[in-house]
Amino acid sequence: MRTLLVTGGNGYVGTVLTAQALAQGWRVFTLDTRPRDESPLPPGDLTEVAGDIRTPEEWSGVLRHVDHVVHLAAVVGDPACGADPDTAWETNYLATVRLAEACHRHDIRELAFASTCSNYGVAADHMAHTWSPVAPQSVYAKSKVFAEHHLLSARDRGLRARILRFSTLYGWSPRMRFDLVVNRMTADATWDGVINLVGGEQWRPFLHVRDAAGVALASLTATCPELIHNCGVTSENYRIADVARMVGEAVPQARLLQTPGGSDRRDYRVDFDGLEKSLGFRPGWTVSAGIREIVGQLRSSHGPTGVGGMAAVMN
Ligand SMILES: NC(=O)c1ccc[n+]([C@@H]2O[C@H](COP(=O)([O-])OP(=O)(O)OC[C@H]3O[C@@H](n4cnc5c(N)ncnc54)[C@H](O)[C@@H]3O)[C@@H](O)[C@H]2O)c1
Repeated sequence: MRTLLVTGGNGYVGTVLTAQALAQGWRVFTLDTRPRDESPLPPGDLTEVAGDIRTPEEWSGVLRHVDHVVHLAAVVGDPACGADPDTAWETNYLATVRLAEACHRHDIRELAFASTCSNYGVAADHMAHTWSPVAPQSVYAKSKVFAEHHLLSARDRGLRARILRFSTLYGWSPRMRFDLVVNRMTADATWDGVINLVGGEQWRPFLHVRDAAGVALASLTATCPELIHNCGVTSENYRIADVARMVGEAVPQARLLQTPGGSDRRDYRVDFDGLEKSLGFRPGWTVSAGIREIVGQLRSSHGPTGVGGMAAVMN
């Protein structure tokens, strides 16, 4: 049986990925500092480890049992990293270095690393490719770029680390994140009847959370020589104002409230045309379908629970 450690397995992506891995027959170990949500999982072999990725004594024993790793655990997003840069560097960079060393000691050869297209920073005048220069604008993106460098150098010691530069994610997960721009705008429109648009001209690529989980799992068994992968859909690069328009189409009674852009300079479009060929996975979702799904979920649930009033950010 193929075995897999999912760090950050109880997060937004991790819960979806764990369910998909179990459904595919993987034996799964999760590592996270917070407990799993209570949503049902497909039947399968799951071991949950409560531990901190920064403290190898809490998880390195697990590596005896696994042959693949998906590394998701991180302080995620510019605001969270900016609020506590030391913890962000320890978690996103140093712990990744330690994880690579531990994989080496346990002869683990396949790791997928959740990085971000935010690394491209300001690049809207062209389509960014995997070989384009990065221009990280925040502690978050810088910590991911440093971690990428380290993992790519680990190849010399036998670890094939695939760098998955995810687009900004959206869509429904049992561990929902309402700080992501599509999710946030959709929730505001559904619950409060307002679409809060900050700026709007800046470009972002988007990917559904289930497609992100699918591409990460596909990457573990892919054989292509490339190690850096932009994960998204070329036709799903949008300006933030386009997202507001799509939310308005799904929630026509919501009112648009536009305010000038803030301090976030990121503005990038990304080419994803090589993804299916290299990793054998084709994302199937579109932002507008994802918005409709979220609206349906929110209308059938019990309304906001402690998620209101947060500003939308875009990882
Ligand atoms: N959501 C996005 O739009 C997006 C975009 C690009 C990249 N990513 C990357 O994908 C990965 C998953 O993101 P997500 O959206 O699921 O975020 P998330 O915050 O929902 O999940 C991260 C998980 O890591 C756990 N974690 C944090 N610090 C830890 C520690 N010290 N030890 C153990 N566990 C710890 C958290 O408890 C959480 O469950 C991250 O690496 C993120 O940088 C996400």
